[in-house]
Amino acid sequence: MAAVKIVNFVKRFGEVTAVNNLNLEIYEGEIFGLLGPNGSGKSTTLLTIATVYKPTSGDIYVFEHSVSREGDTVRKFVGIAFQEPKAMWVDTPYELLLWHAMIVGYTSHEAKNVVKETMERLNLWEHRKKQFYQLSGGTRKKLEIAKVMIQRPRLAIFDEPTAQVDVITKHALWDVVREMRDNGSTVIVATNDMFEAEKICERIAIMYRGELRTLGSVKELKDQVPGGDVVEVSFEGDREEAKDALLKLDGIGRYMLGNDKIVAYLNKGEERAAEIVSALMSAGIKVKRIMVQEPTLDDVFFYFTGARLGEG
Ligand SMILES: Nc1ncnc2c1ncn2[C@@H]1O[C@H](COP(=O)(O)OP(=O)(O)OP(=O)(O)O)[C@@H](O)[C@H]1O
Ligand SMILES: [Mg+2]
Repeated sequence: MAAVKIVNFVKRFGEVTAVNNLNLEIYEGEIFGLLGPNGSGKSTTLLTIATVYKPTSGDIYVFEHSVSREGDTVRKFVGIAFQEPKAMWVDTPYELLLWHAMIVGYTSHEAKNVVKETMERLNLWEHRKKQFYQLSGGTRKKLEIAKVMIQRPRLAIFDEPTAQVDVITKHALWDVVREMRDNGSTVIVATNDMFEAEKICERIAIMYRGELRTLGSVKELKDQVPGGDVVEVSFEGDREEAKDALLKLDGIGRYMLGNDKIVAYLNKGEERAAEIVSALMSAGIKVKRIMVQEPTLDDVFFYFTGARLGEG
C-alpha cells in the first residue's frame, strides 16, 4: 500500500498555480525527500497532504483515504511540523507540548514523561518556561518538531526542519527521523538542502514551479545528469594513442588531454572504469591511476531545475 498517493493534484491560489498536475507515490516505511527551490510548491503539497488545504482538482490519498472527502480520517494518521511555526498560544513551550501530548492520546502521567524526554533530547528543556516571543527561530522550529516526535504519527511530515537550526541539532534531527522510520512511521521531509536529502532520504522528488522534475534515489538522479561523471586517468605512454583508445569507447562526451593525463566526461563512470583501463592497456598505455568523480549535488539540482539552490 502507498502511504501517500498523489493523483493529478492541482492547487491554485487565485491566479497563482502553486502545484500543477502532480503525480507521485510515497511508499509506506520510507523516508521521502521533497526538494525544490523557493516557491516550487513543496509546502503547498505537504499542507494539502495534512488537510490544511483542499486540492483545486485531483486528489491525494493517505493510506488510501482521500484528503478531499475523508479529512477526519486522514488527520488521524498525519503529524506535521510546519515550516513557519506560528504563535497561536499564550502558554509556555512546556504547557504547549503537554497539551499536545494529551490531545494525541497520552494519559497525564505519560504525557509529562514523554514531553520531558523529548524536550531534553532537543535541548529544549531550558526554554520550557519562556514565552513564545522569547524563543529564537531555531528553538521555535525545534518545538514544532517536538510535537511530531511526541505524536509518533503513521505519516510524519517535516517542512524544512533544519533550515534554521545549528549543526548539532541537525544531526540530532536526522537521527530522530531515522528512528521514527525504524519505529514504523513513513516520513516526508521537504528541504532545500541536497546534502540533507542525500544524508537521510531513500528517494527524492525534485519539484520546480509546481511540477515534478524527477524522482529517484540520489544515486539515480546523479546518473541522469548526462555526461555527469568525471573520469581522470593518469598514464605513461603516447598521448595521441591514449586519446584514440579512449575515443573509441561509447559515450565519451567532452574530454581534455594532458601530457600524462586524460580527463573525460561520461555517464556511470564508476561502472566503466575497468573498460577504460583495459582499452588503454590494449593500446600499450600503462595506467598509473584512475579516479572517478560523481557530479556534485549542486550539478544535479541545477540540471533538473535550471536554478541554483535558493533561487526563486
Ligand atoms: N496561501 C497562499 N496564497 C497565495 N499564494 C500562495 C499561498 N501559498 C503559497 N502560495 C504561492 O504558491 C507557490 C508555491 O509556494 P510554496 O510555499 O508551496 O513553495 P515552497 O516550495 O514551499 O517554497 P519555499 O522553499 O520558499 O518554502 C508560490 O508562488 C507561493 O507564492
Ligand atoms: Mg515551503
